[in-house]
Amino acid sequence: MGTALITGATSGIGLELAWQLAEAHHDLVLVARTRERLDQIATQISQAAGVGVQVIAADLSVADNVTRVAERLRVGRPATGLSAGAARPDVPHTVEQVAARPIDLLVNNAGFAVGQSFTAGDLGQEHRALNVMVGAVLELTHAAIPGMIARGHGAVLNVSSVTALTAMGTYAAHKAWVRTFTEGLASELRGTGVTATVVNPGLTRTEFHDRAGMEADWPRVAWLRTQDVARDALAAVRRGQVICTPSLRYRGVNALLRLAPRGVVRRVAGHAGARTRY
Ligand SMILES: NC(=O)c1ccc[n+]([C@@H]2O[C@H](COP(=O)([O-])OP(=O)(O)OC[C@H]3O[C@@H](n4cnc5c(N)ncnc54)[C@H](OP(=O)(O)O)[C@@H]3O)[C@@H](O)[C@H]2O)c1
Repeated sequence: MGTALITGATSGIGLELAWQLAEAHHDLVLVARTRERLDQIATQISQAAGVGVQVIAADLSVADNVTRVAERLRVGRPATGLSAGAARPDVPHTVEQVAARPIDLLVNNAGFAVGQSFTAGDLGQEHRALNVMVGAVLELTHAAIPGMIARGHGAVLNVSSVTALTAMGTYAAHKAWVRTFTEGLASELRGTGVTATVVNPGLTRTEFHDRAGMEADWPRVAWLRTQDVARDALAAVRRGQVICTPSLRYRGVNALLRLAPRGVVRRVAGHAGARTRY
């Protein structure tokens, strides 16, 4: 993984993934809507970790913005000088150098809580959520994969959620799509040198809940740290593991969700979703 493109890289899990990848000497392409924040983070990471950082300000709910990011993912010139796990270069790559390099790891992380009930909610908000958490994941992965296969290596990391196994509104439906999509992709990619991994975080302390105005008054033990989620996700990518659920407690929750009768899941998890409005 010489160069990683991360969507939703200005806060939370995406920002932590960016830092951990930079510390492992990967150049970065950071994508999110907020240009100012992207520029600030790019400067901080580049100075602290000595890697090159390109930023792309894009709203992934808007079709032509997604197309711009997809075009970046199709850049196919083979890397020169810095290959997977190579030693840290003395001088960070310039933005122009990073922009000319193929993407070795695509991280589809951008997402948000829909924050409303489906029946009484705004349809525009539903479309934005679907576009960011499903449409962009589909299009960006489709753009990235052919070059990776041609180069014989690469990886896609998709961020789903433990809610994928629940009944918490359209958010859970989008995350279930991401999970199933990644599993299908991983099967299709077998033998190509390219891998697909889906990470299913449980409740993680980020800006996610505040942005949606959620109360999120869950007990302390329910919360994960972004550092742990990102570390487990990247370890899974390095192993070529398809499904990664960070923490023993959420692997337990996953197992319960799989084993419990769906009627029980709908009653318990559906109720929790209504309370927090995913
Ligand atoms: N936190 C949790 O409890 C939790 C649990 C399971 C899964 N997840 C998933 O983890 C992923 C990251 O979320 P987080 O918890 O780290 O939340 P966060 O701190 O709110 O970060 C979300 C990131 O997505 C970007 N983003 C939001 N809307 C966007 C859009 N339309 N176009 C482009 N970028 C957009 C935001 O940047 P800008 O505002 O600058 O665009 C930000 O960088 C999401 O997919 C989320 O569903 C979170």
